[in-house]
Amino acid sequence: MISDGFIEELKLKSDIVDIASYYVNLKRQGKNLWGLCPFHAEKTPSFSVFPDSGSFYCFGCGAGGDVITFIERIENLDYIEAVKFLADKAGINMPQNDGKSEDLSNLRRRIFEANREAARFFHNTLYSEKGKEALKYLKIRGLTDNTIKKFGLGFAPNSRYELGNHLKSQGFKPYEIIQANLGVSKENKEPWSRFFDRVMFPIIDLRGNVVAFGGRTMLDIKPKYLNTSDTIIFKKSSNLFSLNFAKNESTEKLILVEGYMDVIALYQAGFKNTVATLGTALTPEQAKLMSRYAKEIIICYDSDLAGQKAAQRAIDLLRQTDVLIKVVTVPNGKDPDEFIRLHGSEGPTRFNLLLNSSNNDVEYILKKEALKYDIETTDGKIAYLKSSIKILSKLNNRLEQDIFAGKLSEKVGVDKSTIMMQLLKEHKKNKILEEKKEFLKIQQDLSAKRDFINKDKSKNLRAAVAEEALIAFIINNPDIANNIFLKLTPEKFCTDFNKRVYSCLFERKKANRPFSLIDLTLDFTKEEIAKIASFLAIESRRNSTIKAAYEYIDVILYESEKFSEVELNLADENKIREYMLKLKSIKNRGKFDNGYGSY
Ligand code: UTP
Ligand code: MN
Repeated sequence: MISDGFIEELKLKSDIVDIASYYVNLKRQGKNLWGLCPFHAEKTPSFSVFPDSGSFYCFGCGAGGDVITFIERIENLDYIEAVKFLADKAGINMPQNDGKSEDLSNLRRRIFEANREAARFFHNTLYSEKGKEALKYLKIRGLTDNTIKKFGLGFAPNSRYELGNHLKSQGFKPYEIIQANLGVSKENKEPWSRFFDRVMFPIIDLRGNVVAFGGRTMLDIKPKYLNTSDTIIFKKSSNLFSLNFAKNESTEKLILVEGYMDVIALYQAGFKNTVATLGTALTPEQAKLMSRYAKEIIICYDSDLAGQKAAQRAIDLLRQTDVLIKVVTVPNGKDPDEFIRLHGSEGPTRFNLLLNSSNNDVEYILKKEALKYDIETTDGKIAYLKSSIKILSKLNNRLEQDIFAGKLSEKVGVDKSTIMMQLLKEHKKNKILEEKKEFLKIQQDLSAKRDFINKDKSKNLRAAVAEEALIAFIINNPDIANNIFLKLTPEKFCTDFNKRVYSCLFERKKANRPFSLIDLTLDFTKEEIAKIASFLAIESRRNSTIKAAYEYIDVILYESEKFSEVELNLADENKIREYMLKLKSIKNRGKFDNGYGSY
């Protein structure tokens, strides 16, 4: 197991500012640093790093924690893997692993290994007698041996057992094969191969692990592509095909296409900065992920209706990040793979021309909009103007609005200033609507919160705020923590979670163990650490003095006494009198304003 000492060493060598700066562009503001949150799409920074407590917190999405939690989240690792990742970076040796808590880690490792072995098996099969047809198929589709090797393409033989037998001969257990989703369980029998008689496309994560597969049939059956379902090491919605290669390109552009074959054909044609989603529409996580690797994203989807709809969705999602968006339409209903092949040796040059003629997202949308109207007629012109102005009014960039107002003016022959005026009017209207929506949402949240608190007396907000402040104070001031522990025992806490945290700090102090946030990762889950990080984040604005800390104690004592009222036997007069006296005595001390308005 991981020891306190090991964590101490890791803490010294893994400064959260250094580590987070590697992923997020951070700017110092006073003691703390701010940047755009890597865990949700945003345009104004609400992600903050607190060097004093070694923590981070996003005031927008609530992501938070210590340096280990940060790596867990951003690299998509489990706890042990994140510790190992940081240890490697810092050049520290990992302690020997044993014990139950590593079972999951072990299973993850076994799934990685099974996938790698399966990829090797599929690839070898492709180049064996059994793979002859599949190899021919890939060659007809224009792929060279080099490309096939680069992407590790393979062939799953037409048998339900071959892969399983092979994996078993390599020491893999049926359970591991099923957990990897390479096999599906057949009651009491050997697991069946999920993939058979398909050309196999390994999906590789950013660290070079095979995490999943896509398999294409060469027959006319459905589904055309079968993909690995989500497993404990693979989430379709947060991976992109070929990002492992694309991220190494020095260009800050990424080309986004729809299919595996599009990526591979473009790669072979020299466009190595191409990625695709994995059989689903683009997700917010994937948009965010791409924005970490590129300043510009060129959407190059099929020109059929489905493709264009998907492009619109991708535009909407990418708009929430800060990348520049371009859209390319491949002519004649072709996809990029077909386009490249159609043009033979001229394919790469032609595709480059296409890329250079790409529209930015607004141009693209306006162009599509124009197709809906007959601009030669007055009615058509007005309708087109109206809808275009609506579209432009949603842009949050005045300069962009100005440029497109100019273009629109040329196109329909209406004064630019008139268009601009309408545009600003519409923009204002949108803003007011947006603010109203936001206000309503906050109002709803608050009233939901209030209902929740009223329902459950143990959700005593006044106490909770004091408890959270006190916990943050103790973590930040370990030297004077003992004074606090002497005055307040854990049972006095009203809120279950806070009680657990406080007990943990209490017990650790007694045992002379450290209790900074990173130390607590040994005792709490990732989500719980995030919650404690939020206490620290709020405390960093408050910066409590020791005097304030004593006030928190008073509030907690007062609230816990008040709470015990509920349990008081109302028939016992003496007890009630005793209680009233006690309450009076602490009431005067318990004046405490939480500073966040009253509920
Ligand atoms: P397409 O149907 O456009 O196929 O699916 P494609 O990429 O042109 O494939 P080829 O050229 O005929 O081989 C685009 C992508 O959608 C996913 C796959 O990721 C595919 O690459 N898809 C499609 C599935 O996951 N399952 C399917 O049944 C079909
Ligand atoms: Mn295709």
